[in-house]
Amino acid sequence: MSPFQLTRTLPEHATEAALRSDVRHGLTRTPKTLPPKWFYDARGSELFDRITELPEYYPTRAEREILRARAADIAAATDARTLVELGSGSSDKTRHLLAEFTGLRAYVPVDVSESALQGAAKTLLAEHPGLDLHALVADFTAGLTLPGTPGPRLVAFLGGTIGNLLPDERAAFLDAVRGMLAPGDFFLLGTDLVKDPSVLVAAYDDAAGVTAAFDKNVLSVVNRELGADFDPDAFAHVAVWDAEREWIEMRLRSLTGQTVKIPALDLAVEFAAGEELRTEVSAKFRRAGVERELAAAGLDTVRWWTDTQDRFALSLSTPAG
Ligand SMILES: C[S@@+](CC[C@H](N)C(=O)[O-])C[C@H]1O[C@@H](n2cnc3c(N)ncnc32)[C@H](O)[C@@H]1O
Repeated sequence: MSPFQLTRTLPEHATEAALRSDVRHGLTRTPKTLPPKWFYDARGSELFDRITELPEYYPTRAEREILRARAADIAAATDARTLVELGSGSSDKTRHLLAEFTGLRAYVPVDVSESALQGAAKTLLAEHPGLDLHALVADFTAGLTLPGTPGPRLVAFLGGTIGNLLPDERAAFLDAVRGMLAPGDFFLLGTDLVKDPSVLVAAYDDAAGVTAAFDKNVLSVVNRELGADFDPDAFAHVAVWDAEREWIEMRLRSLTGQTVKIPALDLAVEFAAGEELRTEVSAKFRRAGVERELAAAGLDTVRWWTDTQDRFALSLSTPAG
C-alpha cells in the first residue's frame, strides 16, 4: 500500500452547495457575515502561510516554542500510534511532534484545502518515508469518518483555529472531538490567550497588508465560484477587538454604497457606504474557560503549557474517567 492516500469527503458539488448556502445566508442577513473556511483556496492557504511569518503574528511562533519544548512530553504522555490533525494546513509545526513520536504509525491531516494537504504531504513524506499518511479533504465541523488506523489516537487542533468557531459551534465541535476519542486517547488543543488589545489588533492588521489580502481573498473566491462581481478594492480590511466577548473580528468595510451581483444565486446584495461584512472571529481564551469548555464535552485537562511570554497555550485532555 502506498504510504500516501488522499480521501475527498468534500466532493465538488457538496463544496459548491455549501458555499452557495453560506453566501446566500450570510449576505442576506444583518449584519452580513461569511464563514472563515472559504478563505482557504490555494491562494488563501498561501497567504495564511505568509501571515504566520509576519513580525506582528506572534501565535505561530509562540505555539512553535511550546511544541519544541514539549513534544517529547506529549509523546510520552500519549504514546500515540495515530496522530489526527484537524485544520492541519501546511503541517509545519506538526513536524516538531512527528520528530518525537517514535512509535507513530499513521498521520491523518484533515483540511478543507486540498492544495495545503498536497504541499504538506510532499514535505512530510520526504522526512518520514515510512509514515502512513492518510490525508482527508474534509470539513471538521461536519462530522468526520476517520480511517481505521491503530490506537492510541492523539487528535490535535493547533493554530488557535478553535477561536474561529462561535461559542455554540465550539461546544458542538468539542462534543464531536470527544466522539472521536476512546479511553486512553488524547486531544491536544492550541488556544491563543487574552492579552493587550494593541498586540491582538496588530496581529490581525499587519503593516505589510498581508492579512488584508487574505481577508479580501474570500471575495475573490465568491467571484470565481459564483460569478460574483465583488471589487476587492472597494472594501477595506478592518480588525476590531470585542472586549466583552474577548474576540477579534475581521471585517470588510464597504468604501462606498454599492450593489454586488451574484449570478449563481440570482442575488444582488446592497452594501451601504461604511457597512461591514464580518469574515472571521478569533476568540482569545483564559485557562479556566478552556478547561470549562473541555469539561463540558467530557474531557479532563491533564496538562497545560504556555510559551515563556504567556501568549499562547497548549492543553492536553483525555476522556473523563
Ligand atoms: C488558522 S489556519 C491554521 C493552520 C495550521 N493548523 C497552523 O496552526 O498553522 C486554519 C486551517 O484550518 C483549515 N480549515 C478552516 N476551516 C476548516 C473546516 N471547517 N474544516 C477543515 N479545515 C478547515 C484551513 O484550510 C487552514 O488550513
